[in-house]
Amino acid sequence: MKNQVLITPAKYLRGEITLPGDKSITHRAIIFSSIAEGRSYLKGMQRGKDCLATLKCMRGMGVPIREEEKEVIIEGVGLGGLKEPEDVLNCENSGTTMRLLAGLLAGQRFYSVLSGDEFLRKRPMKRIVKPLREMGAKIEGREKGNFPPLTIVGGELKGINYSSLIASAQVKSCLLLAGMYAEGETFVREPYKSRDHTERMMQYLGIPVKVKGLEVQIGSKKSRKSRRSFKGKSFYIPGDISAGAFFIGAAVSLPGSRVKLSNVGLNPTRRGFLDVLLKMGAEIKISNFKKICEEEVGDIEVKGGNNLRGVVVQGEMIPRLIDEIPILAVVSCFAQGDTLIKDAGELRVKETDRIRAMVSELKKMGADIEEREDGMLISGRNKLKGTLVNSWGDHRIAMALTIAGLRCEGETTVTDTQCIDTSFPEFQKTLRELEKT
Ligand code: S3P
Repeated sequence: MKNQVLITPAKYLRGEITLPGDKSITHRAIIFSSIAEGRSYLKGMQRGKDCLATLKCMRGMGVPIREEEKEVIIEGVGLGGLKEPEDVLNCENSGTTMRLLAGLLAGQRFYSVLSGDEFLRKRPMKRIVKPLREMGAKIEGREKGNFPPLTIVGGELKGINYSSLIASAQVKSCLLLAGMYAEGETFVREPYKSRDHTERMMQYLGIPVKVKGLEVQIGSKKSRKSRRSFKGKSFYIPGDISAGAFFIGAAVSLPGSRVKLSNVGLNPTRRGFLDVLLKMGAEIKISNFKKICEEEVGDIEVKGGNNLRGVVVQGEMIPRLIDEIPILAVVSCFAQGDTLIKDAGELRVKETDRIRAMVSELKKMGADIEEREDGMLISGRNKLKGTLVNSWGDHRIAMALTIAGLRCEGETTVTDTQCIDTSFPEFQKTLRELEKT
């Protein structure tokens, strides 16, 4: 992919697309298959750079993985079968890889180092380091354990009763993975429900996990009961709603659009963007609803209109659309009235500070947008003008700005777009398919 894209205004988008596999589910399917007994088949796996980083890390610990055109086949080595990696495990740009693997590695009786690119090395790790240390892991990092590289000497862990201050699926999943290796029970509580793919995958695999509202429990009082082996399986990974959000956002913003996305993951903890768009007055229809591998899946049809209204997005809704806020900011520019996004301070510690990045770049396009400590305020219906904008090295900022460009007057250039490869290498191609029709 070229490192910048030129976008010309589009009248509308029309057509039917399939999305790459869900990134969050792919990471988890790779990790769980690696420690399962026997063979797993991953169908529809996402092959962006983030997920490939997880795949390479597992290979680095001796897991045989074969990539074929239609599926990826993983020969699980069992809970105790991972080998000490010979080199640093490179998580590249992927926070999910680093935080989930830190939990897994805390339970291994060997030494390992997790590092990543310049962006990941600036992301906070205390949120996992602190509870993992309480469980008994020896884990160090820069600035007293807050930044990567992380070094981990795992081994004997004990369960933890942990109330997280943030609703983070990465923290929750990290501790559940560590909990699988710990003695006794592990409880993780969160203030709002974050994505629950880990819990669902554990259920799919027969790993004993209990979910009670905002609390998840693994393990039992009887020592080591949680460390129960499980068998490899086939994983059918649905389309990534977070990738689809860019086309959904484009379609609702361009009157006359008609876009269908088939086989998309519709897990309630992930579909907040659809719920907010419906509240804004968008025309969205879901059909063919079913459950596959414990995950809801369906087709989404979107019609573009001219009647979106501003909304307030806050509280429990935030984790349900955390990755969609950049594209929501774009859509809000085209809605009637104000959109207020609050309680979203977590956006400041994503691949980049997504609040600052979106406010700064959309302002360059002429948007009426104000930065808030924990979100942003957008007054819609200002005409946007095409100009030169930058992705800040963040895939979701790059894709959101590309979509904004479709409804600008004049041409837009987004620079630094290579980062899109981390989650959606086929993004430009998919967009062109829709623009053509
Ligand atoms: C993810 C969880 C989210 C999300 C990230 C992927 C996951 O992060 O932003 O892109 O796969 O668990 P947090 O749960 O830490 O907010």
